Amino acid sequence: MSDKPNVAFSQAETEAETLREQLNQHNYRYYSLDDPQITDAEYDQLLRRLEHLETLYPELRRGDSPTQRVGSAPLPMFESVEHKVPMLSLANAFDDDELRDFERRLHARLGDDRPITFVCEPKLDGVAVSLLYHDGILVQGATRGDGFNGENITANVRTIASIPLKLQGQGYPPVLEVRGEVYLPRAGFKAINAEALAKNEKPFVNPRNAAAGSLRQLDSRITATRPLEMCAYSLGQAEGGGLPDTHLGTMRLLKEWGFLINSLMTAVVGIEACIDYYQRLAVLRADLAYDIDGIVYKVDSFRLQEALGFVARAPRWAIARKFPAEEAVTRLVDVEFQVGRTGAVTPVARLEPVFVGGVTVSNATLHNEDEIHRLGLKVGDQVVVRRAGDVIPQIAGIMPSDTDRDDLQAIVFPTRCPVCGSALQRSAEQAVLRCTGGLVCPAQRKQAIKHFASRKALDIDGLGDKIVDQLVDAGLVHTVADLFSLNVEQLSGLERMANKSATNLVQSIAAARQTTLPRLLYALGIREVGETTAKLLAAHFGSLEKLEEADEEALLAVPDVGPVVAGFVIKFLTNPHHLAIIDSLREAGVEWPDIESRGPQLLPLAGEVWVLTGTLAAMGRAQGKEQLEALGAKVVGSVSAKTTCLVAGESAGSKLEKARSLNIKIIDESEFLALLQANQ
Ligand code: IVH
Repeated sequence: MSDKPNVAFSQAETEAETLREQLNQHNYRYYSLDDPQITDAEYDQLLRRLEHLETLYPELRRGDSPTQRVGSAPLPMFESVEHKVPMLSLANAFDDDELRDFERRLHARLGDDRPITFVCEPKLDGVAVSLLYHDGILVQGATRGDGFNGENITANVRTIASIPLKLQGQGYPPVLEVRGEVYLPRAGFKAINAEALAKNEKPFVNPRNAAAGSLRQLDSRITATRPLEMCAYSLGQAEGGGLPDTHLGTMRLLKEWGFLINSLMTAVVGIEACIDYYQRLAVLRADLAYDIDGIVYKVDSFRLQEALGFVARAPRWAIARKFPAEEAVTRLVDVEFQVGRTGAVTPVARLEPVFVGGVTVSNATLHNEDEIHRLGLKVGDQVVVRRAGDVIPQIAGIMPSDTDRDDLQAIVFPTRCPVCGSALQRSAEQAVLRCTGGLVCPAQRKQAIKHFASRKALDIDGLGDKIVDQLVDAGLVHTVADLFSLNVEQLSGLERMANKSATNLVQSIAAARQTTLPRLLYALGIREVGETTAKLLAAHFGSLEKLEEADEEALLAVPDVGPVVAGFVIKFLTNPHHLAIIDSLREAGVEWPDIESRGPQLLPLAGEVWVLTGTLAAMGRAQGKEQLEALGAKVVGSVSAKTTCLVAGESAGSKLEKARSLNIKIIDESEFLALLQANQ
């Protein structure tokens, strides 16, 4: 074979030019417009062709070529670059009144009471960057540094797919500096941390640290492996060319030129509307695809911005309203071990109380032993506690300490159940320790009873956790069946239980006797049998007797049931102790009528795994879930490679992004409704 390229230079030059154009255009459609026209695979094919041509003729390789996004050889150090226009910071407001003061100051300074238009935008929690374009070509990327001088990170910013290497459209000034935030979406953060763990490397504490660490790599090939994004939020230098006279107008133009502009950016009139926006975003915050730490408000009109000017190092025309911090540092006081319903022993961190995510936190979950080892945690450590949205507080990492940690106490795992003293068993496949005491263990018994009474199970109103604890401790209740023989006298003897509440509780226990087969199956607390599986088992077998007779083969015929679940069902329903409890329930008058069995006939969505995300206007997610389950689908909370389909409602966030990255089928609400209709 000849080593002479079979494409002539002039031909390659033209083709490379076309490919660059096409790739930049597709990139723009994907990131700025969120409207890709080709698949990722097709994009890769074009990119590979361009790479091939550039390998044949290295002189065709240019800085604005999409092939340059893979990074280049490491730099010895970052050069310093001067910001012609200083990169400022923002003043902060911590409550509504401080925002109102801000508006009052604006009116006073302008000597004008006319309503002011503000642009509201999320304050992205990442790293500020400056991007310099000469004649539409990216020539320099820099960090903020001290605001006057930053570091030259051009090679690194080139690897970020949402940063245009060449501007789209026309009308941009010959010298244009665009500023914005580089950040790591949550899904990307999870992915790189999972990778770090797999390689036994230390994970990043949060997406911001991960973004900063990724951007300050001397080896841009490492940056290229990190799924960073950039949203533009302002201009720096802009020489020549007619630009809009408002901030929002400028952002729209930047979008046309190929930048990603945050989709939640919006203009409102007056500070009260800004406060409303803050409230709306506070609700959305936990479900966004990326971390935000507040809202930035900017006076929209450049004329007014100029009139207002700057004070110290912040503009007078903008302010940031911070959200309650999602992270705080506190001391780990102790680690205790809790025993759950299935006997799983989980470590719980006891913390010096700290205000985080808007509440005072004194406990955090630690999942399992591996996590403690991974974190290298010791009692007495200063730890970073994270509480995002309604999520249970977690320990994200340990603060580097100046004191000697050798003196701190290592965390010792129990070898026997801390509640009943039974042996602990470690399951081979999971990093979980389990108490082998079963229902002999009071902790497991209490949890089993709480589960039995919970809303989706027998729904016994008024039977709270504290009451169950007392009933078990006092020896009044050993199994769930004992609940049905409790009387007012016994109950009113309990702490904080008045006669009236005791009477009510006896009544709600009596009412719970009339239940359904799916509820009962769920309430029994068979491992891995959640609400959905319980419904499917009930629909398939129609009666508890039929389920008790079922062997593995029969169970495997149920959608959603695999060998593991089948094993747990058989184990549960052949255990004499459990069968005795079921008999006692019957004797106590608990009734779960047989339901018409669907038999082995398969439901239309059997075996499928669905995820619902965003706002579903027509029916809401809970109802959507019910309908899908009725068709045999399993509905879960997070997207994974196993997901069959994602229903993306209005303002879907990280789940949508993840589904896209995994190439999972995505449908919108109208398609979803059509599907339900078709399966009626
Ligand atoms: S505007 C002169 N807009 O917050 C105005 N900043 O303390 C300069 N940030 O370092 C900033 N999201 O990195 C602006 N939508 C947004 C922002 C934003 C995040 C960061 C920025 C800056 C810091 C200000």
